[in-house]
Amino acid sequence: MTVLVVGASGATGRLLVTHLLEMGKTVKIIVRSSDNLPTAVKNHENLSIIKASVLDLSETQMKEIVRDCTAVASCLGHNLTFKGIYGRPRRLVTEATRRLCQAIQQNRPADAVKYVLMNTTGNQNRDLNEPISFAQKCVIALLRLLLPPHVDNEKAADFLRTEIGQTDRFVEWTAVRPDGLINEGQVTNYEIHPSPTRSAIFDAGSVSRINVGHFMASLIIDIDIWRNWQGQMPVIYSTEK
Ligand SMILES: NC(=O)c1ccc[n+]([C@@H]2O[C@H](COP(=O)([O-])OP(=O)(O)OC[C@H]3O[C@@H](n4cnc5c(N)ncnc54)[C@H](OP(=O)(O)O)[C@@H]3O)[C@@H](O)[C@H]2O)c1
Repeated sequence: MTVLVVGASGATGRLLVTHLLEMGKTVKIIVRSSDNLPTAVKNHENLSIIKASVLDLSETQMKEIVRDCTAVASCLGHNLTFKGIYGRPRRLVTEATRRLCQAIQQNRPADAVKYVLMNTTGNQNRDLNEPISFAQKCVIALLRLLLPPHVDNEKAADFLRTEIGQTDRFVEWTAVRPDGLINEGQVTNYEIHPSPTRSAIFDAGSVSRINVGHFMASLIIDIDIWRNWQGQMPVIYSTEK
């Protein structure tokens, strides 16, 4: 079982890769640079590193990369610099999701491949009637205008929800929605909900990146957890101490 991780050099992505390797999986990553990876990960015998910017890969290269993968996970996000937020690619997460899913579909695998997207509680699951206040709607509308990465996150999940949908033969998906991300050294207790239980804007909770990585790895590894959340957009909070 090989798992492809994109965004693997990021703060959450490298923790996801660490969890997957610790769980005994073979992992393939596409990174622009491996400098941020912990040495133990970089030198792990079950890790293979493809040095590339994911959107620069051709259709043929993507098909070849995903051919032996039973799961693909994305922890991609825009770098928090002016260029990262307002420069190109404006649709990094959406385009990577679309192209990777299409590469999987074109390969026509015998068993559906799992796609796990790291998304955000700032995005609603429009398959469900998730109520948000008028004030929150106004703030989200402002974020859409001012922050292109927010729109990118929304469109990436919308692609999975509406274009892959619930009955695709080749791709099954889950969009994990973390609340405010924090850094912690160890996995702690966390809660998973189908929808936010608090306002992502006015009463945000928090979740450690290591817990997000752990849940994403558990979705890939544990079929019961997968069946529970497949085709949904689970929200994750670290349990308050
Ligand atoms: N901050 C929060 O509280 C919060 C809450 C919920 C969800 N989120 C979402 O969670 C996601 C990941 O968060 P994070 O903190 O783990 O992110 P991060 O540390 O910034 O990692 C981002 C990853 O995306 C890659 N990347 C950025 N621009 C790229 C490009 N143009 N081409 C190829 N790869 C590129 C980075 O690669 P390089 O190392 O090469 O730059 C890195 O691997 C983001 O989508 C964010 O919106 C954030």
